[in-house]
Amino acid sequence: MQLEGKTIIITGAGSGVGRASAILFAEEGGNVVCADVNDEWAKETVRLVEQNGGNSIAVHCDVTSEADVTAAIDATVAEYGRLDVMYNNAGVATPRPGLRFEDHTVEDFDRLMSINLKGVFLGTKYAVLQFKKQSTPGSIVNTASVAGIVGWGGTVYGATKGGVIQLTRAVAVEAAPFDIRVNAVCPAGMPTTNFMDIPTDTATQAVAFEKVAQQHPLGRNITPEDVAAAALFFASDTARNVTGVVLPVDGGYVAR
Ligand SMILES: NC(=O)c1ccc[n+]([C@@H]2O[C@H](COP(=O)([O-])OP(=O)(O)OC[C@H]3O[C@@H](n4cnc5c(N)ncnc54)[C@H](O)[C@@H]3O)[C@@H](O)[C@H]2O)c1
Repeated sequence: MQLEGKTIIITGAGSGVGRASAILFAEEGGNVVCADVNDEWAKETVRLVEQNGGNSIAVHCDVTSEADVTAAIDATVAEYGRLDVMYNNAGVATPRPGLRFEDHTVEDFDRLMSINLKGVFLGTKYAVLQFKKQSTPGSIVNTASVAGIVGWGGTVYGATKGGVIQLTRAVAVEAAPFDIRVNAVCPAGMPTTNFMDIPTDTATQAVAFEKVAQQHPLGRNITPEDVAAAALFFASDTARNVTGVVLPVDGGYVAR
C-alpha cells in the first residue's frame, strides 16, 4: 500500500500508461483522479478502478487549457481534501507515421508542443502552487520518452519530450526546498496503447509488435504496466530522496 492516503491526479488516464497507472495507484491505496480530454475513456478507467475495489473519480481535462487544469486540481481538493501527486502523462504522437522533420506543418508543431510540453508546464505549475498552498510535500511525475533523450524519429515529438525532461530537472532543483520532487519516466515504443498507428488484424499486429520489441536490447515490448510501476516508485515515499531523475523504461534502448 505504497500510496495509502494519497491523492493523485493522472492526466491521460483514459488509456494506455494513464489507465494502467490509475489501476496500480488505486491498488496501492491511492485516491485517483482520472483526468482526460476523452470523458468516456476516463469514465471507463474509473469503472475498472472501482471494479478492483479502488477509489477514483473522472474529471474532464484538456491539458492545454489552463482553466481545465486548475479546475481538475480544484475538483480533486473538493473531493479528497488535498493533492499529493501530479502525474502529467497525457501526450500525443507524431501525427503521420514516418513524418520527416521538414514536412511538419506549423499546425503539427503547435499541437505537439501544446499537448506534450505546455500540458506538462501547466500541470507542473499548478501542482507546485497547490503543494505550496497546502504546505505539504508533493511529487510530480512526468511522462517523457526515449525520444527526448536520443534521436528516435518524430523530431518535433522528441523536442517536446526533451523539453519535458529539462523542465523536470530544472523544477526539481528549484522546488526541492519545498520538499517537492519532480521526476520523469521515459518509455520506449509501446505498441499496445492507443498511441501508435498499429494495424488491427491479428497477424499484421503480431509482426508490428515483434518489430517494436526487437528495437530493445531485452527484446520484449514495453507495456503500460512497466511504465506505471516506475511512476509508482517516483510517486511513493520510497523515492523520498529521489528527484530530478529521468528514468528510461526501454529494455536497454538508450544504453546502446
Ligand atoms: N506508446 C508509446 O510508444 C510511447 C512511447 C514513449 C512515450 N510515450 C508517452 O506516454 C504517454 C502516454 O501514452 P500512451 O502510450 O498511454 O498513449 P494513449 O494514446 O494510449 O493514451 C494517451 C491518453 O492521453 C489523452 N489525451 C490526449 N490529448 C489530451 C489532452 N489534450 N488533454 C488530456 N488528455 C489527453 C488521450 O485521450 C488518451 O487517453 C504520452 O505522454 C506519450 O507521449 C508513449
